[in-house]
Amino acid sequence: MKFFSLLLLVPSSLFTAVNAWHDIRDTPSNPIDIQDGQTGVLMVLPPAQTDTSIKRVPDAGHPFIAPGPNDMRGRKLHLFENCVPVPSVSSTACPGMNTLANHGYISRNGITTFEEIINAVGEAFNINRNQGAGMAAMNILTRGNPFVNKISIGGVSPFIPPLPGQIDGPATQGIAKHGRVEGDASITHADVHIGDNRNFNKTLWETDLEILANFGDDGPDGPATVFNLQTLIEMKRQKLESDQLLDADARSTIKFSIPIRRLNLVFAAPSFFISTFANGTTGLATKYILTSFLMDQKFPDNWFRNGFPMQGSSIPAQIAAALPQWVPGRNDENGVFVADPPAPAPFNISGGCANYWDVLTNAVPGPLANVTGIFKQNVVQGILFNGSGCTEPLAPAGPTDT
Ligand SMILES: *[C@@H]1O[C@H](CO)[C@@H](O)[C@H](O)[C@H]1NC(C)=O
Ligand SMILES: *[C@@H]1O[C@H](CO)[C@@H](O)[C@H](O)[C@H]1NC(C)=O
Ligand SMILES: *[C@@H]1O[C@H](CO)[C@@H](O)[C@H](O)[C@H]1NC(C)=O
Ligand SMILES: *[C@@H]1O[C@H](CO)[C@@H](O)[C@H](O)[C@H]1NC(C)=O
Ligand SMILES: *[C@@H]1O[C@H](CO)[C@@H](O)[C@H](O)[C@H]1NC(C)=O
Repeated sequence: MKFFSLLLLVPSSLFTAVNAWHDIRDTPSNPIDIQDGQTGVLMVLPPAQTDTSIKRVPDAGHPFIAPGPNDMRGRKLHLFENCVPVPSVSSTACPGMNTLANHGYISRNGITTFEEIINAVGEAFNINRNQGAGMAAMNILTRGNPFVNKISIGGVSPFIPPLPGQIDGPATQGIAKHGRVEGDASITHADVHIGDNRNFNKTLWETDLEILANFGDDGPDGPATVFNLQTLIEMKRQKLESDQLLDADARSTIKFSIPIRRLNLVFAAPSFFISTFANGTTGLATKYILTSFLMDQKFPDNWFRNGFPMQGSSIPAQIAAALPQWVPGRNDENGVFVADPPAPAPFNISGGCANYWDVLTNAVPGPLANVTGIFKQNVVQGILFNGSGCTEPLAPAGPTDT
């Protein structure tokens, strides 16, 4: 609790007005909070890791074990596309959750928690604690159950109840569900309205490898086998162009859509290829390493994490700068790409702040603005606001059951 006071954002007038009585209930002397038959679990920011040295991963205690039939896995680059942008560097903080689950850095059943995600990405990828917290918070608020502090890295799970009072519909979806964070223009997965958006798509990966063969650097495994900035730019160019066209069918009800919260991730996810996933000893992101993480969802043999805490990178901004025609927007009913209107003032001061506005307004379900007790403490942590670059916080206002 003491720890948590650090995280509380300046309460918006909505929170203050609606929850004037909450002080009594939120005190640490009353830790048991039962709502709709569920017992609340307070999310507590774990301490930052002290050992941030280079080291071989996985260690002996984390062997690869393929998931069983009931284990949750899912979604694209496996949570490293479902990240929270850090505005100062336009980067994000989230590597491959499926890999972490397959090695037991998070629960092998794919049901994880705020603290477990932060500790796992710190240990396995040397992701800075605050970045890990931003990623965990964004995913749990949009696709988890932030009352019981649980999230599925795949789809709906019997281990995660709907939100108390079913305020976000009859099921808690998990990060594989399209719409709030999961979105279009992934490098390795089809868009939801084009094909299978959950499982790795080998056709797309083969296209990526052709691009690598044209633009990659030479490395220990041969010519043009190392991912570099130009490779990432060309992969994203190809994917954005083809998905926008493929989804131009006027009969489709779900349209190609890259609102700012999605576009940030479109540019940020590939940066992990050459930052987080590169071999820490050589700095090289080889075809072998990327294939291991993305397709096999296991740590490459003889792989080392970076020797410094990852706090973002300039790569997403460089990719965005190389593709200036791709702004936040969506296909209209005629399949024509139309830019979104800018975020309203004062949330238009930066891309990071506009992203925060989009997440709170369109992705975090509105009824979370009115929750109480431990539920409220978990929702109103201030982590997303803290990373936003905005001058004032927003209450959740997104649609429900979507
Ligand atoms: C908020 O951001 C500051 C500056 O980046 C950081 O030092 C602090 O730990 C962050 N707090 C939380 C709760 O993320
Ligand atoms: C894989 O991607 C290709 C190219 O976009 C697409 O045609 C195909 O339907 C996808 N496969 C699946 C199973 O989604
Ligand atoms: C990482 O680099 C070390 C040192 O050069 C090398 O021994 C190891 O094989 C490399 N691992 C991968 C997965 O490339
Ligand atoms: C933000 O929006 C306001 C109102 O439309 C406008 O006056 C202002 O110039 C915008 N600021 C930026 C940085 O675009
Ligand atoms: C929050 O509660 C207030 C008062 O009951 C209500 O007017 C408002 O619509 C609620 N907001 C949401 C997003 O449910």
